[in-house]
Amino acid sequence: MKDKAILVIGAATGIGAATVGRLASEGARVCAADVNFDGVQALAERLSQNGGNVSSVPIDIAIESTVAEAVARAVELLGELDGAYLNAADLRTIFADSNALDVDLAVFDRTLAVNLRGHLLCTRAVLPHLLANDGGAIVYTSSSAAHGADPERPSYAVSKSGLNALMRHVASRWGREGITSNCISPGFVMTPEMVASGQVPEGLIDGFLAATPSTRVGHVDDVAAMAALLLSDDGRWINGQVINVNGGGLIA
Ligand SMILES: NC(=O)c1ccc[n+]([C@@H]2O[C@H](COP(=O)([O-])OP(=O)(O)OC[C@H]3O[C@@H](n4cnc5c(N)ncnc54)[C@H](O)[C@@H]3O)[C@@H](O)[C@H]2O)c1
Repeated sequence: MKDKAILVIGAATGIGAATVGRLASEGARVCAADVNFDGVQALAERLSQNGGNVSSVPIDIAIESTVAEAVARAVELLGELDGAYLNAADLRTIFADSNALDVDLAVFDRTLAVNLRGHLLCTRAVLPHLLANDGGAIVYTSSSAAHGADPERPSYAVSKSGLNALMRHVASRWGREGITSNCISPGFVMTPEMVASGQVPEGLIDGFLAATPSTRVGHVDDVAAMAALLLSDDGRWINGQVINVNGGGLIA
């Protein structure tokens, strides 16, 4: 990743923050963007103090005008764009995302506004910069929820299925112009924030382990490693794929 210019959107906590750290440790220049601007500012300061080249910008991917502005500012800070990791999701709605008969339409709309429409906006904003740079990589974070049947969380699953479709579209439309587009599809990843909040029900972890041929749940670094590969030169012939990082939880 040495000297590569990478924008990570949805970077304040969890998988995004870990990926910013991983990319910076490999020598990339990284801009971390998030609606939680205090979070990305603090992350950028901490990593920069440890020798990383990390900047930050505020962005709300649900609002079209801020997306274009934030991406333009990020590219100004980076000087160019080699890749973008589009990782944001509004996970506050997930606990109210009950089932198709019951779900509040406001929950459905908000989930799609951020997790799907927001990614279309981000794609529109980053693509011209990547094309101007002779191509580059877009990586999205999808979810096993897009494939696995689940009696709950229909809005989330629909948003991530749509994201897989958006990713395939981008891969096929712009592959010949040097763009690669891929989704990482994580299984259950226990983020440091989940551990700190103590809010993850024991049953969830036990249920995941019972259904997964693995010794443990996912760690943010498992996903960050795949993002780094897909954004690196080693990943340049991987295009249009949904790559499962899930401990074998879904064997495709
Ligand atoms: N943790 C898991 O088990 C898991 C599993 C599968 C997929 N995922 C996906 O991984 C990604 C990261 O999730 P995470 O678990 O690290 O959670 P997280 O909540 O720590 O990360 C999501 C980030 O997106 C940001 N965000 C939310 N709304 C935004 C908006 N409107 N504009 C800009 N940024 C916004 C949040 O502030 C946060 O920094 C998400 O796309 C999530 O759907 C997570």
